[in-house]
Amino acid sequence: MKILIVGSGGREHAVVDALAQSPEVRKIYAAPGNGGICEQAELVSIDANDLDGLARFATVERIDLTFVGPEMPLGNGIVDAFRKRGHTIVGPTADQARLESSKIFAKRFFKQNGIPTAEFAEASTLAEAHDVLERSKYPIVIKADGLAAGKGVVIAENPVDAHRTVQQFVESRTLGEAGSRLVIEEFLEGEEASFHVFADGRYFQPMVAAQDHKRRFDADTGPNTGGMGAYSVDTILSKRQQDTILSRIIKPTLEAAESYSGILYAGLMLTAEGPKLLEYNVRFGDPETQVILSRLKTNLLDVLIDTAEHRLPSRKLDWTPDAAATVVLVSRGYPGKVETGKQVFGLEEAKRIEGVKVYHAGTRCEDGKVYTAGGRVLNVTARGSTLAEALERAYFVAQMIKFEGKDYRKDIGKKGLAKQR
Ligand code: AMP
Ligand code: GLY
Repeated sequence: MKILIVGSGGREHAVVDALAQSPEVRKIYAAPGNGGICEQAELVSIDANDLDGLARFATVERIDLTFVGPEMPLGNGIVDAFRKRGHTIVGPTADQARLESSKIFAKRFFKQNGIPTAEFAEASTLAEAHDVLERSKYPIVIKADGLAAGKGVVIAENPVDAHRTVQQFVESRTLGEAGSRLVIEEFLEGEEASFHVFADGRYFQPMVAAQDHKRRFDADTGPNTGGMGAYSVDTILSKRQQDTILSRIIKPTLEAAESYSGILYAGLMLTAEGPKLLEYNVRFGDPETQVILSRLKTNLLDVLIDTAEHRLPSRKLDWTPDAAATVVLVSRGYPGKVETGKQVFGLEEAKRIEGVKVYHAGTRCEDGKVYTAGGRVLNVTARGSTLAEALERAYFVAQMIKFEGKDYRKDIGKKGLAKQR
């Protein structure tokens, strides 16, 4: 089979690595890929958002199966464009992807379907927003309606910060059109969890739970990022929490979002009143994918084919009881402006460490050397029979790899370890 992977992050590297284990896979292309993916796939220099270019490539190369990593092409209709040309692609249509691409659409959907979520109000003018803020309790959460690459959610501690944020979003349009309409919602307290399912349009299969670390610095301080690390271990959710998530969140969603297929990722807050849905993503999480796929024993290609062909009920997913952890190595300055082009050392040595894989994110390869090319550079991912062992291995390699300006959080998985004590 010939496979096309759309995207260029650590998530896509983990998917490519899992698919490369399949004997049926003859060739993998990645558009545009990165400096690590190129070891297992041929890089194609087509932007992940160039839908026509990608569809033409799939036709010319007779691609058998396409998998899309990021939300933007899904929100823009890559699945519709590929299906129109008769290509097999795993993912939701643009209409279905509104669960992620419009927060207003998503919140209305949660409400209509009785899904537990934070109380909220909508606002599409500055006056409306100010009116809501006058009546609110603090802290309050302000969300831009559209896709904003992780910059669209602000937790305001007081009215002054809240008014300033809505002013920036609605009037100064700091996020462009994405911030022209808002969701203003209740602040929920608790631990977060990421829960993914494969959905085939009729049925679904749950994956193991994971926990992301969104804030830039230790002890969950500093700005929000794309994700600084993740872990997956069976103790993230109790049986009861898992049952609630399936029966009150995932099932009603897939019944209402008719024929949804692809990956559905629920971002949850585990509150004292039970799990509540913060948001849906219509794709795999990054860096959650790196830990989730590390625990998947079933061949990923088979699961993706079943997802595309409505055959998930007959597929049982096998997971290792092992724990997995990933530590994201970032460039100094992330999530702000970063310097790129620094050479990365230690990658060959890291390959020799048992139980560890280094997935590339913002890297590029030139003359056999790897250079940094973005904010999130590498995802050191390790498995272990316990979470402590997985973390120890990941941190050992995180230290071993060198590039100028390297930084990472030192407390990935700490909450998971505390829970096990
Ligand atoms: P979202 O893109 O909606 O997942 O929001 C990004 C992050 O903001 C989440 O992962 C949470 O850490 C935080 N967040 C979003 N909504 C809420 C809320 N209602 N209460 C507390 N934190 C939230
Ligand atoms: N790790 C968060 C996300 O992928 O949205």
